[in-house]
Amino acid sequence: MNRWFVRFVFPILGMTGLIMFIFGYFLYQLPQLTSNMATLAMGLSVIYLLMALWIVTYLRRHLKPVHDIRAMVKDLSNGHYWRRIYPPIASGMVKELAVYANRLAEQLQAVTEHQHVHADRLQAIIKHMASGLLFINEKGRIVLTNNKLLELLKWNDHHHQELYYESPLPEPVIEMIQNTFTFEKEQQQEVTIEVGIRRIDLNVLVAPVLDLEGHNKGIVIVFHDITQLKKLERVRQDFVANVSHELKTPITSIKGFSETLLDGAMYREEHLKQFLSIISQEAERLHRLVEDLLQLSQIEQRQFELNWQKVNLAEVMNNSLRVIEAKAEAKEIKLEYTPPVESTFVEADPDRLQQIVINLLSNAIQYTPEKGEVRLSIDPWAEKGYRICVSDTGIGIHKEEITRIFERFYRVDRARSRASGGTGLGLAIVKHLVEAHQGEITVESEPGKGSTFCVYLHRQRNKQDNKQKNR
Ligand SMILES: Nc1ncnc2c1ncn2[C@@H]1O[C@H](COP(=O)(O)OP(=O)(O)OP(=O)(O)O)[C@@H](O)[C@H]1O
Ligand SMILES: [Mg+2]
Repeated sequence: MNRWFVRFVFPILGMTGLIMFIFGYFLYQLPQLTSNMATLAMGLSVIYLLMALWIVTYLRRHLKPVHDIRAMVKDLSNGHYWRRIYPPIASGMVKELAVYANRLAEQLQAVTEHQHVHADRLQAIIKHMASGLLFINEKGRIVLTNNKLLELLKWNDHHHQELYYESPLPEPVIEMIQNTFTFEKEQQQEVTIEVGIRRIDLNVLVAPVLDLEGHNKGIVIVFHDITQLKKLERVRQDFVANVSHELKTPITSIKGFSETLLDGAMYREEHLKQFLSIISQEAERLHRLVEDLLQLSQIEQRQFELNWQKVNLAEVMNNSLRVIEAKAEAKEIKLEYTPPVESTFVEADPDRLQQIVINLLSNAIQYTPEKGEVRLSIDPWAEKGYRICVSDTGIGIHKEEITRIFERFYRVDRARSRASGGTGLGLAIVKHLVEAHQGEITVESEPGKGSTFCVYLHRQRNKQDNKQKNR
């Protein structure tokens, strides 16, 4: 309507007014016309022109804002909520209409902005969630997956719009989804799946998504990776089983021999001495085992602190050698050590450092046959600071056993180690102590030829590193 006025009526009114004015002017100039008639014609055309002008102005003033409002509402319906209208000359109802239209636009804009913020937040949460997430619509098609899910299941793409039972989801999960579609009930289950060569343990939660009327709108599935948790649980169970086994052996022995003595063997001199010495040995092993266990649990605690101080490595080496000298002599093992000429100061815990060296030296002596050789060395120019190495000409360790010897209670030759009084905790303690020193331990070994254990230590501790570990 407005456009029609603007395009046709306004120009026609204007043009006819102008033509009438020109026509009146010519009439006015004609000599045969009486001046009164000419003046009347001229006057009428001027009045017509003025009226046309007034009509045009009036219509413009009232129809233009209506047209603007219409255009704006159209824009709003297309989602352009930032559109506003500024009616400078409108008044009355048209002005009110413009004001309400603006308010409506403002509210719509605020609501959509709010929705955008919410959607962004939700997207960020879904994207950075530590659990895998999958959403299936009511038709059974996958419509949402997050990156964690792709990482967990090793999917290369999101499989969007694929039917869940045709997707590479694990079979038990597909079954859970089917049950949830049927019974509309939440389900939770632990599922173990094989991804490549790895096995992962997942805690899968499948829940129906219902609308306000209770209609099923789809299914949401959350995957928690509990592989580490399960591993820890297994380690804990193994540890308890190992400790019980290790404790049981000497206790059974002590119990058996003491009962035999009480049953009459104590009256026979040779049995009394032999059995008592076995009981004493087993009690000693029990004592060592408990000591080692206590020490290990103390070292493994988060609050475990070293007594950091400036330590002379050469002194620690001398003290350690003194402690195990007798053991080496008993097996006629040659102990070799050349003290370094450079100063060998390091920031460390002297007692713990000595414990590390003694442990490595006594292993070297223990697993080296008589008349063998054990060498201790310090390299003050190693890449990471100091390198302390203990090498022997002993029985050596097979490649596949090397990674396992630092596990608690792991012994390559169980019977042999136990016979020599070993608890199988020595290297586990050493590894923890080296790591507490922010160092590293490496092993090189060849069965039948010997082994070399090297400990790398920084000259100074990194205080930041310790704080992070304690956090
Ligand atoms: N120098 C070595 N040469 C050969 N094998 C070794 C050497 N050091 C360690 N091992 C192997 O690693 C295993 C674990 O060593 P670890 O010191 O932890 O336990 P252990 O010596 O048996 O007992 P303990 O806890 O009393 O030291 C040993 O049982 C042995 O089989
Ligand atoms: Mg040992």
